[in-house]
Amino acid sequence: MESWKLLDAQFLRHPFSHPNDQQDMLFIRKAEGALLIDESGKTYIDAVSSWWVNLFGHGHEPLLQSLKNQAETLAHVMFSGITHQPALELAQQLVQLKGGPKGAVFFSDNGSTAVEVAMKLAWNFRAQSSRSPTCFWAFSGAYHGDTLGAMAAGERDLFVKPYEHLLAPVHFLEYNPQSGYDLDRIRQRIKQEHPAAFIYEPLLQGAGGMRMQSANTLTPLLQVLREEGVLLIADEVFTGFGRTGTTLASEQLLTPDLLCMSKALTGGFLPLGATLMSPELATWAEQPDRAKRFYHGHSFTGNPISCALALATLNEWHSPTQQHAFSSLVQSHENKAAQWNQRFPEASARCMGSVLAIDLPRNTSGYFYTDSIGREVYKAGLQAGILFRPLGNVLYTVPPLCTNSDQLNQIYQVMEDLLMRYSKP
Ligand SMILES: Cc1ncc(COP(=O)(O)O)c(C=O)c1O
Repeated sequence: MESWKLLDAQFLRHPFSHPNDQQDMLFIRKAEGALLIDESGKTYIDAVSSWWVNLFGHGHEPLLQSLKNQAETLAHVMFSGITHQPALELAQQLVQLKGGPKGAVFFSDNGSTAVEVAMKLAWNFRAQSSRSPTCFWAFSGAYHGDTLGAMAAGERDLFVKPYEHLLAPVHFLEYNPQSGYDLDRIRQRIKQEHPAAFIYEPLLQGAGGMRMQSANTLTPLLQVLREEGVLLIADEVFTGFGRTGTTLASEQLLTPDLLCMSKALTGGFLPLGATLMSPELATWAEQPDRAKRFYHGHSFTGNPISCALALATLNEWHSPTQQHAFSSLVQSHENKAAQWNQRFPEASARCMGSVLAIDLPRNTSGYFYTDSIGREVYKAGLQAGILFRPLGNVLYTVPPLCTNSDQLNQIYQVMEDLLMRYSKP
């Protein structure tokens, strides 16, 4: 075995690991544009934007420049009692985003912490109102992160089960994109269960299997929740930056009370979490009564380099070049989904914004590691020079915007080959 494999096996433990990982472990030395390059020089198209964080491509020059400039000026400073220009500018831009809450921003380190902040804010705010909350609400099949609060709001699957006794009370609503929601029943349940907030991945459940629902289905549910005084927490950690066709999915829905961003927020360069809150929550969080205020913080809260990268990301995202690349990608996905739906109707080809997904025809459930088809498909992808990250039998792509048409066609071709391979009786 190569020496790095031995070292890795001895000294490193990876996220969501499985002993078999060691055999197909990749050693990536470099990344350029849509490509990852391993230690032998072999390239892989990053068809999943490195766990959905990358937006324009690896090493994107304007982002690299902003990182360098900011690192030379102010790399980091404590954010309690201190502020700085990148955070000020970024917060102003984030509260102007269409569909997002317009009060203030609380920075943290990643998607899970952005969710933790939103849940803590919602709980504390509601606990001080006339009706004390007893739980949160979330959708079945959800994924909101791996810290204890975020995990409580996610599907209670293999990864969550061992910690069930530690989790905050969360009651689940069946995710029902086809038939919609029984709104009378939901009103009754709210009166019995007193949820502080409902947390949801707007329009698109990512880790749950790229499950899509229309604004027409989701909006009436959100309206009822709002009418009944349940705070809305939109988890846009994945859906932000075009994954549902608009900058925020919430543009197509009700403006939530709290909105979580991360992943593509820095274009895939550095971690950053942002929790956007309504003016009412922003005022409450600054109230004079010290015992009732909102307290939370991380050492790297509001890191200036991450904030500078997020500013550069927003600037790039709105540029005509990137918007053109985005529209072309969406168009290609739509054409491909239409073709596949003609030829392979059982695969339920579906697309939304920059995401295109199919179900491989096998009656399985579960994620990558609990389902052998996921591993087989992952390996087949690597052999063909493409990095996929199947979700059980769901094979999808959400490539960086710099992915050219040749590379995109390679991704589609391998997806189609796999579809045919598994379609065979
Ligand atoms: C919708 C959603 N929320 C939260 C998270 C957690 O983000 P992070 O992995 O940065 O903690 C994820 C990660 O996949 C996610 O998809």
